[in-house]
Amino acid sequence: MMNLTQKPICLTGVKPTGVPHLGNMLGAIRPAIEFGLSGDYDSFLFIADYHALISMHDAKLLRQYNYEVAATWLALGLDPNRMAIYRQSDIPEILELHWILSCFTIKGLMNRAHAYKASVDHNIELGRDGDHGVNIGLYTYPVLMSADILMLNSHVVPVGADQVQHIEIARDIASHFNHVYGEIFRLPKAIVQKDSRLVPGLDGRKMSKSYQNHMPLFMSSKDIKKHINKIVTDSSDPTTPKNPDESIIFDLFTFFATAEEIQNLRDHYSRGIGWGEAKAQLQNVIERELKIPTEIYRDYIEHPKKIEDVLQLGKEKTRPLARKFLDEIKNKIGL
Ligand code: TRP
Repeated sequence: MMNLTQKPICLTGVKPTGVPHLGNMLGAIRPAIEFGLSGDYDSFLFIADYHALISMHDAKLLRQYNYEVAATWLALGLDPNRMAIYRQSDIPEILELHWILSCFTIKGLMNRAHAYKASVDHNIELGRDGDHGVNIGLYTYPVLMSADILMLNSHVVPVGADQVQHIEIARDIASHFNHVYGEIFRLPKAIVQKDSRLVPGLDGRKMSKSYQNHMPLFMSSKDIKKHINKIVTDSSDPTTPKNPDESIIFDLFTFFATAEEIQNLRDHYSRGIGWGEAKAQLQNVIERELKIPTEIYRDYIEHPKKIEDVLQLGKEKTRPLARKFLDEIKNKIGL
């Protein structure tokens, strides 16, 4: 089996869907960067723009989202010299492999994929034909994702729990192929981050764009304040002792503050604290944490050429590996 790099390969993709939020940063992006830079792997992160094309048909917005995702990861610490970041559409070999893999993908397997099934269920609920509005891209989403992963013969793929089924599909397709032609593809392993603490949104439920309770990253001071002010508090007066363990403000604070600051705020709660004061303290720690990333982010967004340079670097590292492996695959199948 071909090893494309000396170290095992760790690969993950993100769909460009606009600026991520604080919950994404704490729960997914930072851990992925730390993992990627741990030194145990040769790490690759790519922007899944062909995946986005399934539902995003606005050229200007797609380009903007690509830049926003790249700038976000760079601002949050991705070092492009230690971890490759590339655009999926810059590696056309992935699409060649996509076709090859689709010839080894049982149609029924796609019928069972979550994203497609969810669309069908939704349509049926509305009394429409199950396939209403479903394009073939959505239907074969898992094949493209398998091509992303298998193109680099990846060892591990860090993903959210909702993506595990897709990795299983990739293993399935790879096994099917290997069964015919011998051990070409490595069966990739999903790595799902467990035990990460749930980041609360402004209404106390899990922070999520779909609940509209999120705080976007890289906001101005004024907008951070506006968002924090959406946290609902009771009308008790400032001298009333308060329970930090039932406070969204306190919970969020703990993600950004030092142990000493957390203890101080805890004490302040039990002595009695005004909600305005608690919110101001939360604002301080968030701004402190995000000050430099926000500067870096804005600099990239104002200079897209810098983003292009970084993506070019990623492409230069990745594409030759993909090419070499694809040639071997084509050779094996008689093309
Ligand atoms: N489907 C993933 C998501 O929505 C994004 C993705 C595309 C991906 N290709 C990938 C993730 C390959 C890991 C590996 O989050």
